[in-house]
Amino acid sequence: MNETWVVHMSAEPLIRIQGLHKWFGMLHVLNDICLDVMHREVVCLIGRSGSGKSTLLRSINFLEEPSAGTIEVDGLSIEAGGKGRLHRQMVHELRLKTGMVFQEFNLFPHMSVLENVMEGPVMVKRLSKTAAAEIAEANLDRVGLLFKKDEYPNRLSGGQKQRVAIARALAMEPRVMLFDEPTSALDPELIGEVLNVMKKLALEGTTMLVVTHEMGFAREVADRVAVMADGEIIETAKPEDLFRAPSEPRTKALIEGYRSGTHDQDARSRTAAKRRK
Ligand SMILES: Nc1ncnc2c1ncn2[C@@H]1O[C@H](COP(=O)(O)OP(=O)(O)OP(=O)(O)O)[C@@H](O)[C@H]1O
Ligand SMILES: [Mg+2]
Repeated sequence: MNETWVVHMSAEPLIRIQGLHKWFGMLHVLNDICLDVMHREVVCLIGRSGSGKSTLLRSINFLEEPSAGTIEVDGLSIEAGGKGRLHRQMVHELRLKTGMVFQEFNLFPHMSVLENVMEGPVMVKRLSKTAAAEIAEANLDRVGLLFKKDEYPNRLSGGQKQRVAIARALAMEPRVMLFDEPTSALDPELIGEVLNVMKKLALEGTTMLVVTHEMGFAREVADRVAVMADGEIIETAKPEDLFRAPSEPRTKALIEGYRSGTHDQDARSRTAAKRRK
C-alpha cells in the first residue's frame, strides 16, 4: 500500500509475469504481458471491458491456460504449454500460493459459513477438522464475520457473502491474493464494507493484485496501478502520478470516463447482463 502507511515492501517480486500471450482462437487477448508484483505490494489493474483483465488474472493461476510466456509465483516458475504430471503438480502448487476472489461469491449454499471456509483446508490441505476450524475462525474474524459462522449463505447480505469468500481464500494461507472485480456485483451500499476488508488486508502487508473499477480504492490503497488496453499493459504508475498526469491517451480517456461516470454506467450494464446469463 502507499507510502503513507508504514509497510516494508521487499524488492523481490512475488509474482513475475513474462512474455505472456493468450489467444482464444484468432482473438489475441493478451499480447506480451510483463508484470512484476513485489512482496507486500498492492497493484490495481484497470481497463475497459474486454481489455483482458480477467484473462490475465486467471492466467496467473492457470485457470486459463496461457498460450505462451512464463508465470512465476513465490519462486515457482511455470512455462505456458506444459503438459503431463509434473506440469499439473506445479500448477497445483502454484494455485496453493494464490487466493482468488471473483465477482460472484460461489459459496456452497448447503454449508454453514464456517464449513465454507473450512472446506479448502480440509479437502485440499488435508488438515484435521479441528485445525481447519481454528484457521477458519481466525480468518472469519479478520473479515469481521466470526459472529456469522453458523449462519448459511442465503441469510447473508451480498457484502457479507463476499467477505466470507475472502475469508475462504485467506484460509488457504496463500502468498498472494488475486481479486477480480470483487465489488462489481454488489449494491452500492455494500461495496464499502468489502473495500474496507481489502484495505485492512493491504495494511497487514498482504500482496494483492486487484482488478477494480473502484478508482477511490486504487488511488488510496494501490502502490501501483497498471492500465490494460487491447490485451496490453499500456502504462504502470503510482496512483498519484497516473491520475494526475496519465502518459497514454487511452489511460486519459479511461480516467475521464470514470470521472464523468460514463464508465460506471458501462460497468453496471455489463454486470446486469452477466447476472441475467
Ligand atoms: N473463454 C473465452 N473464449 C473466447 N473469448 C474469450 C473468452 N474469455 C474471454 N474472451 C474474450 O477475451 C477478451 C478479454 O476478456 P476479459 O474477460 O479478460 O476482459 P476484461 O477486461 O476482464 O473485461 P470486463 O471488464 O468486462 O470483465 C474479450 O474480448 C472476451 O470476449
Ligand atoms: Mg473481467
